[in-house]
Amino acid sequence: AVKMIIDTDPGIDDAMAIFYAAAASDIDLLGLTTVFGNVTTDIATRNALRLLEAADLELPVAHGAEAPLELPPFTPSAHVHGDEGFGDIPAVTPKGQPVDEDAADFLCRMAREHKGELVLCPIGPLTNIALAIQRDPEFAQNVARIVIMGGSLNEGGNITPHAEANIYHDPHSADVVFASGAKVVMVGLDVTHRILCTKADFTAIAAQAPELGGMLQEMSVFYLKFYETVGKFDGCSLHDPAAVIACTHPELFETQPVPMRVSCEGETSGATLADPDSQRTPVDVCIGVQSDAVKTLFFKRLSLLP
Ligand code: BDR
Ligand code: CA
Repeated sequence: AVKMIIDTDPGIDDAMAIFYAAAASDIDLLGLTTVFGNVTTDIATRNALRLLEAADLELPVAHGAEAPLELPPFTPSAHVHGDEGFGDIPAVTPKGQPVDEDAADFLCRMAREHKGELVLCPIGPLTNIALAIQRDPEFAQNVARIVIMGGSLNEGGNITPHAEANIYHDPHSADVVFASGAKVVMVGLDVTHRILCTKADFTAIAAQAPELGGMLQEMSVFYLKFYETVGKFDGCSLHDPAAVIACTHPELFETQPVPMRVSCEGETSGATLADPDSQRTPVDVCIGVQSDAVKTLFFKRLSLLP
């Protein structure tokens, strides 16, 4: 099984990704690290603990960065994920607590202890990953790979015409990751916009896995409604689950090696750009996906949950 840490801002599709990881026998989840984005970092930590408790997983949660590397703090995306991150589901105080280490220290230590084996799957802004790279000069080489949900090569943005939300919220951190020399896989809008789920998909999973599938179905109501407000009536994107699935099923994705940089200024801020003349290690950018296979795998495994 793939040793994995998910760095997350839960978040409705984050919840989907984490429940998927809980159900996947080829994923050995070692813990979660949290970041601002869809919600504040405090809420992200609370939600991460809650998801693990719901899935009956006793794993460390490390509280992460509360603001971007260089940009000022910003307002979370309540219109997409709800004030508390899970749509209209009321907040619940989890029983557990985060570990004492902060996210970046936890990541540095885990990458050292599982040198060459740890797959890091960030599905929020990349601040914790940038901090880990800055704190430990060996971090980028210690991790096996960093499979990010974020960015876009040819697809344009979702939060601005140019930028995808996770990169937009901390473009400087994303650029640190692209410059780090780590093996990076970018699962961006080029593929996630092609993996769409409908109300019927969530109704079905709620019937098969009443407890956890039911929770996702409840959250999906808010998420699908947001998609409709922006004129998308054929379903919501499986952004974050796609990145987790790319960690174990790379054969379902078509990639292209491209050195990348991030625009950090002006109206294109947050855009992920090909930088062919740079000396940077190429990023494996996902440009194609077998969407039906990804969707089938996603729901098949979720159906194994209670
Ligand atoms: C990304 O932004 C967040 O809203 C989602 O959770 C996902 O990680 C999609 O752009
Ligand atoms: Ca996310």
